Amino acid sequence: MRYISFDNIPENREWAFENVRSTEQWTHGYHRYPAKFLPDVVRKIIEDYAQDSIRIADLFAGCGTTLVEAKVHGIASVGTDINPVAQLITKVKTTPLTLDALQSAYNNLVALFDEYNEADYADIKKHERIDYWFTPSQKAKIAFLYDKIYHSVIRDDIKDFFYVCISHILKNCSWWLQSGTKPQRDMGKKLEDPFKEFCRHCKRMMEWNRKFYEELCQKGYLDTTCEILLEDARHTSIPTGSINAIITSPPYVTSYEYADIHQLTAYWMEYISDIHEFRKKFIGSSYSGNDSLIVSDSKQAQKIVNDLSGKSKHIARDVAQYFNDMQKVAQEMKRVLAPNGYACIVIGNTKIKDVQIKSAEVFFEFLRNAGLCKVKVIKRSIPHKLMPTLRDKNTGRFTKQDNPNCKKVYPNEYVIIMKK
Ligand SMILES: C[S@@+](CC[C@H](N)C(=O)[O-])C[C@H]1O[C@@H](n2cnc3c(N)ncnc32)[C@H](O)[C@@H]1O
Repeated sequence: MRYISFDNIPENREWAFENVRSTEQWTHGYHRYPAKFLPDVVRKIIEDYAQDSIRIADLFAGCGTTLVEAKVHGIASVGTDINPVAQLITKVKTTPLTLDALQSAYNNLVALFDEYNEADYADIKKHERIDYWFTPSQKAKIAFLYDKIYHSVIRDDIKDFFYVCISHILKNCSWWLQSGTKPQRDMGKKLEDPFKEFCRHCKRMMEWNRKFYEELCQKGYLDTTCEILLEDARHTSIPTGSINAIITSPPYVTSYEYADIHQLTAYWMEYISDIHEFRKKFIGSSYSGNDSLIVSDSKQAQKIVNDLSGKSKHIARDVAQYFNDMQKVAQEMKRVLAPNGYACIVIGNTKIKDVQIKSAEVFFEFLRNAGLCKVKVIKRSIPHKLMPTLRDKNTGRFTKQDNPNCKKVYPNEYVIIMKK
């Protein structure tokens, strides 16, 4: 049996964007997000395949890179993500705010900092995990910030802007090990002052908002619609045949636990009470709870799972679940695309326990089985600064140099272009 292989595709230098200096243009720098798109890749996909689109979609919208770029190109867009933190960030990043209203809300808020009295916030009730991550005095200051934003900022879009600002600074103000790839405390770290961090990051966000606002104003794109839905990519409410181009990057299998990575914001914003249930919703999570080793619709995927099951049954089950979920996403993509619409997928492969996990080839097969035709597959290298290059040999998770099981991976990914 011959399986699909992208091994012999030469690297395309045009897609590497080796000289890109900043990934923070427009609102892209508002919030860190794991495995976020390089905006230049999305820009090139739009310009090559989606320039004439009426509506673009990203079913794994993350922090909204596709939606921001669609807006800058004057194209309406819709995104779905299962993560409420992603939804909040995307909403804010795609909402340009008038400069005066934002500046005056900021000035009013900061003026309230003089009223701060730790004793007023010392006994505030929050999820118990907040006490694990924050000292009592950091917790009190952050609670004060949330409280003042909630009660003194009138407009919801400006409230959300400030909530995203806090979300971004939470890690700096807590015991969270910044350089870690999984949630861990670093009890020796210097904790930043929440008020100073808030002002510092907010000023940067306001400057980015100004440039974004002026660009959209000048191009006449201020009213271009962007919708971000808190939905599962396997079953969205996007109407059938309504999308001219999908531009997306699916989650990697068992590499990032988005539920864990975004837990600080999720607890503060009260998006979750039980992290165990929250984790299960994410495709690619190693907490899926699946107990089957069967993959439908791809012999190649089944072989990967069989090879893995000889080494670790539980990892094999997680990978099987991932492939079955991605097969449903491929069908959903076909459903929402309009005739002649493009599906543009940025996806990488990995290796777990010495088994090649060819997610790119498998997803290509799912899309083809769903009825889409191949246009092109591009191989691009990922600049090291944008992608961790070390992985744990056993789990495939991103890791750090001090892990004895760490192994260097050459960061490549594929841009798969298919047409309905
Ligand atoms: C690789 S990231 C996408 C990053 C995005 N391209 C950006 O630039 O920010 C994958 C996303 O898939 C989301 N995700 C995981 N499972 C999902 C599901 N069942 N439905 C929708 N989104 C999901 C994660 O929350 C994460 O935001």
